[in-house]
Amino acid sequence: MIPEQFIQELLNRVDVVDVVDKSVPLKKAGANYSACCPFHNEKSPSFTVSPTKQFYHCFGCGAHGTAISFLMEYNGLSFVEAIHDLAKQVGMIVPQETHNPDKPAKQVIVGLQEALQQAAVYYKAELKKSPRAIEYLKGRGLSGQIAAKFQIGYAPAGWQNLQTVFPHYDNEVLVTAGLVVENEQGKRYDRFRDRIMFPIHNQKGEVIGFGGRVINPEDTPKYYNSPETPVFQKGHELYGLFVARRAIRDASRVLVVEGYMDVVALAQYGIDYAVAALGTATTPIHITKLMRQTDEIVFSFDGDNAGRTAAWRAAMNALPALTDGLKLRFMFLPTSHDPDSYVREFGKEKFEAEMQNAMPLSQYIIQHLSEHNPLHSDEDRITFLKEAEPILSQIKAPMLALMMRKKIAELAQVTGEEMQRHLKLPKPGKAPMKATQRQSRSPMSLKKQFILMALMRPDLVTLQDIALVQGTTAEDQLLIELFDACLASPNSKPSALLHTIKSADATTLMEVARELHLLPENVDFALEFVGLRTQLSEGMQQLKETQLLNQIKEKPISALTTEERELLRKLGIK
Ligand code: UTP
Ligand code: MN
Repeated sequence: MIPEQFIQELLNRVDVVDVVDKSVPLKKAGANYSACCPFHNEKSPSFTVSPTKQFYHCFGCGAHGTAISFLMEYNGLSFVEAIHDLAKQVGMIVPQETHNPDKPAKQVIVGLQEALQQAAVYYKAELKKSPRAIEYLKGRGLSGQIAAKFQIGYAPAGWQNLQTVFPHYDNEVLVTAGLVVENEQGKRYDRFRDRIMFPIHNQKGEVIGFGGRVINPEDTPKYYNSPETPVFQKGHELYGLFVARRAIRDASRVLVVEGYMDVVALAQYGIDYAVAALGTATTPIHITKLMRQTDEIVFSFDGDNAGRTAAWRAAMNALPALTDGLKLRFMFLPTSHDPDSYVREFGKEKFEAEMQNAMPLSQYIIQHLSEHNPLHSDEDRITFLKEAEPILSQIKAPMLALMMRKKIAELAQVTGEEMQRHLKLPKPGKAPMKATQRQSRSPMSLKKQFILMALMRPDLVTLQDIALVQGTTAEDQLLIELFDACLASPNSKPSALLHTIKSADATTLMEVARELHLLPENVDFALEFVGLRTQLSEGMQQLKETQLLNQIKEKPISALTTEERELLRKLGIK
């Protein structure tokens, strides 16, 4: 069994907002986040995710639950799969779920985050002790205040300095966290030595990794970063996002740059809404993460060739994440400048003025495609169309797709229809991203999963399970009928049970029957039942509270019963 304590610990660690946002891009809306509901078709968002309560709720279809049930419903994972998936995301190891009492449960890695945090504190303290490191930062124009804001530190020279922080230097956690490296002879040493340390934070402000810059210009590599670890994936994280989150909201835009020093120097000059990708190309996940904070993203990469290549890559990677409300623009700095050197030389006002002139993505794409193509001959125009094809086919934002197609067709001197006929493009306005993402496995509601489990193992159904459904929907009816059948004949085969059901919600039954074939062989049914029961009853409890809360909201305070007051207190509303 997975201990309940572990599940609670896991739920404490993950943020349901992050979990949902990975599949359904969320937008900040007051204290909560919202989106169009992934569980039913709708045009305006009625699906909300609460960071404080850590659950999601759809006012349209009533979908409701925790991070665990989201993974189960949206990705069609089983309870155990969902737990493993979440645990992986936060670097925890699921204790053995065998029923074998002889095998002790594995220890949970709780130390990973703490180790990184302690190392950050150590590096910060070491900076204060190193006049050489302080001199370096001053030489780059940084004040002590900015260094403190970004919690910049210093890893001293020497091979095993971290031993002073971690007496158990041989603990596996230090290697997993990327703080300590083990060579082929099994000898361990600090990964970061004699480097300025930039801690990387996740959106909760926890340290998840580091970037370390050399002080001696002849040392290589110039920057050395933490490896990918269970808590740190470069394609997901942005340097400076946690520090900048307020400023991004206030400025209603975010500036994406290439380097650690760009972020820090911009902040020094009062442009405090910048973030950097971590030595990788900007990914669609980065874009989606930023879209949760703001509608305007400006890229400003170095003026050299590498910067230009990075800009084009960022543009291409942004395509699947684009929405019609998003303003994505590109700011091209003069060659030989990066944002750091530019703001230093010209100041905040000039930088921001240039930002106003940044080129919109659509214009950038067209310019790039026609840069080396004069569009003089038919052949030129064919090349142009061929190059535009993969780009256009990735833009899912309906209006933007329409505008881009019109522009491209015009430049190629064909009609929109002709272009549509000859290029492989999805029908405009159709096929939202979700459809392709979900192709592999259709989402199954918790109740459908329960139906599936009950069909497979009617003997595990108990009388109490009936209390888990309210009986209001067709799905509920089906479940109740099935539970009755299971209780009456616990040894039936799935097909026999399917036949006894009369309420016959045909689509639901078909869906479940199809899943029967896809079910893996090694399912631990007893465990799945336990998981489904907890998820369903929690969901029901929260749903009841929400409904009650809505009723209470209508009443004047004086008319509230003691019970209702108690509930308000429990939910933290006075
Ligand atoms: P840059 O070489 O542009 O560095 O690399 P920078 O930020 O301008 O640094 P300074 O001004 O010389 O201090 C941009 C980013 O690419 C990654 C880092 O994330 C860096 O911030 N990078 C660069 C590495 O990971 N390793 C390297 O050796 C160099
Ligand atoms: Mn630089």
